[in-house]
Amino acid sequence: MLYSKVASIAYHVPSRVLSNQDLEAMVDTNDEWIRTRTGIHQRHVAEPGEKTSDLACEAARKALNNAGLRPEDIDLIILATITPDHFCMPSTACEVQRKLGATRAAAFDLQAACTGFIYAMKVADSMIRAAGYQRVLVIGAETLSSITDWTDRGTCILFSDGAGAAVLVPSQEPGVQSCILHSDGNYGDMLMTPRVNSDTPFAERSRGGDVGFIQMRGNELFKVAVKNMSDVLQEALEASGVNEKDISLVIPHQANIRIIEAVAKRFGLSMDRVMVTVDRYGNNSAATIPIAWAEALEQGKIQTGDTIALTAFGGGLTWGSAIVTI
Ligand code: ACO
Repeated sequence: MLYSKVASIAYHVPSRVLSNQDLEAMVDTNDEWIRTRTGIHQRHVAEPGEKTSDLACEAARKALNNAGLRPEDIDLIILATITPDHFCMPSTACEVQRKLGATRAAAFDLQAACTGFIYAMKVADSMIRAAGYQRVLVIGAETLSSITDWTDRGTCILFSDGAGAAVLVPSQEPGVQSCILHSDGNYGDMLMTPRVNSDTPFAERSRGGDVGFIQMRGNELFKVAVKNMSDVLQEALEASGVNEKDISLVIPHQANIRIIEAVAKRFGLSMDRVMVTVDRYGNNSAATIPIAWAEALEQGKIQTGDTIALTAFGGGLTWGSAIVTI
């Protein structure tokens, strides 16, 4: 049986750090509130002019380098983002294709908010197993700072920028063992970026500039996030046939430490088997899982041969989980 396997994974975050103390000077909040309610101590945000494709390219170059591959070896780029460089086109994946010089690659964007990386991994896995693609670059990259209302203390403390990139290749050995995806558009308004001029006919709208800021109903999301991330993780475990005890590390989407701890509690997992990066990076949506995965490798928390579990939840609503042997 043919599988897909992650040959390498890497990440990049912008150098600019925004601490909780920095936010105290911007909105009516304080370090203690942010830490206790979210677990976030600091986050990285892009410099003006630094785009999603720039962060994505940095992560992708490192991943290619780790895998000993050249950009022209890649035959497909799938980039998950809700903060593309351009409003409609070209896609950010095509920007990355151009900047990397990945001359043989097809490229497209995929939008599934915070579940984007798992969605992209499922598409890559299917393209490798069913359509013969050989080296697929799967990227989760965001500049959420560009759609964050920096005067809204209820949201601006949470979001951040960053990118993670993985190279998936065919394998005879198990790699991606299961990958389950879900959505429910009925709850789309729990977390959205409403268009500023949504009532204006498209033709009359000023070009660009009509993308609004992130709005969310945090309390409701919190509960749905815990339930759906737990349920889909269970589903992915059952689909893979892997026992929860054989999972070396669970890598959840990094939205809030309390959500992560609640999911761990449902599975009776001690926190040393759960990857946490939200303290240093905040929530950078599609990028949180590949960043946490790459850091876990760097820190020696996982190694080749281990089986890991990913689980995520995000706007749409979307949620998904994957069991992967690395
Ligand atoms: N600093 C100080 N006080 C604040 C702040 C702040 N930054 N933000 C809100 N408050 C106040 C509120 O105004 C409220 O005051 P009130 O009681 O006088 O009305 C009080 O704190 C409590 O507000 P809640 O919204 O009830 O606080 P809660 O404990 O729910 O925490 C939070 C809010 C952190 C947003 C939480 O609900 C959460 O993390 N929800 C999950 C949603 C999420 O993570 N979304 C990200 C995208 S979705 C995803 O990635 C999965």
